[in-house]
Amino acid sequence: MSDPTTPLIWFDGSLRAPDDPLVTAVDHGLTVGDGVFETCSVVRGEAFALTRHLRRLTRSARGLGLEDPDEAAIRAGVAAVLAASGPDVGRLRITLTAGPGPLGSHRFTAGLVPQTVVVLAGPATRSDVARAVRVPWVRNERSAVAGLKTTSYAENVVALAEAARHGADEALLANTVGELCEGTGSNVFVERDGELVTPALSGGCLAGITRELLLEWGAETGLPVREARPGELPLSVLDDVLAGGAHLLLSGSVRNVVPVVQLDGHDVAVGPLCAAARDLFESRMVEHLDP
Ligand SMILES: Cc1ncc(COP(=O)(O)O)c(C=O)c1O
Repeated sequence: MSDPTTPLIWFDGSLRAPDDPLVTAVDHGLTVGDGVFETCSVVRGEAFALTRHLRRLTRSARGLGLEDPDEAAIRAGVAAVLAASGPDVGRLRITLTAGPGPLGSHRFTAGLVPQTVVVLAGPATRSDVARAVRVPWVRNERSAVAGLKTTSYAENVVALAEAARHGADEALLANTVGELCEGTGSNVFVERDGELVTPALSGGCLAGITRELLLEWGAETGLPVREARPGELPLSVLDDVLAGGAHLLLSGSVRNVVPVVQLDGHDVAVGPLCAAARDLFESRMVEHLDP
């Protein structure tokens, strides 16, 4: 059985001890954040939606100009950490970097250095609800890495620390044109006028797997959930939430689908569609572990 406080680690074909040295000091993921990653929930000992996560990992790697990940090797790593994990394990992390690199931002010639691949499994902390705050920083929907799940997450670290300082567990960001975009590790849905509406991917948010499944499962079951039209969700929609005219829902792996009960330090009510979306996701996810 695993020790719940330390992650299980798979690297280069085998399980490793927590204090094993694995990655070189010149790994380009370490020096400049030149890498991509995925986080999946672990449900009943299986990685939830692994196929979709691996697809997105490949998309992100291609977006950075990295070679396609070796999916068979990663699946073997996932199987190895899950086989060794106990009941406390609730999340899985797959990290892929460009491998050893120069000290600057340029890379060694593709294919000449091995990529670094690490698979980790560890405990998950879950809550049925979320507390969110607006932060002043923006997502750049025109960034070279918009929509890619890169390991360059320092902006999210700073924003989440700001949320924590305000007693919240998620920070909400606008994009450069003032539209509601996403959280540091979640997509956002607004319940208004009998519908759940989520920012479109063109606004710079990550194509969340949880978001995508909620859109698909909603369409299948008649839950009114859709992507926003251009200009439909300015950040100021959060003022409507504070005034009680709209409600918020967050989606993300590990977090799953959770209603927001506090915004900018004020209690806000859970919308009926937000609650229905949470219930739909919870019931579907245990029926389909790799949807
Ligand atoms: C920036 C960002 N947006 C959205 C999400 C939600 O994506 P998913 O549902 O695939 O976990 C994440 C996940 O960590 C994220 O990092």
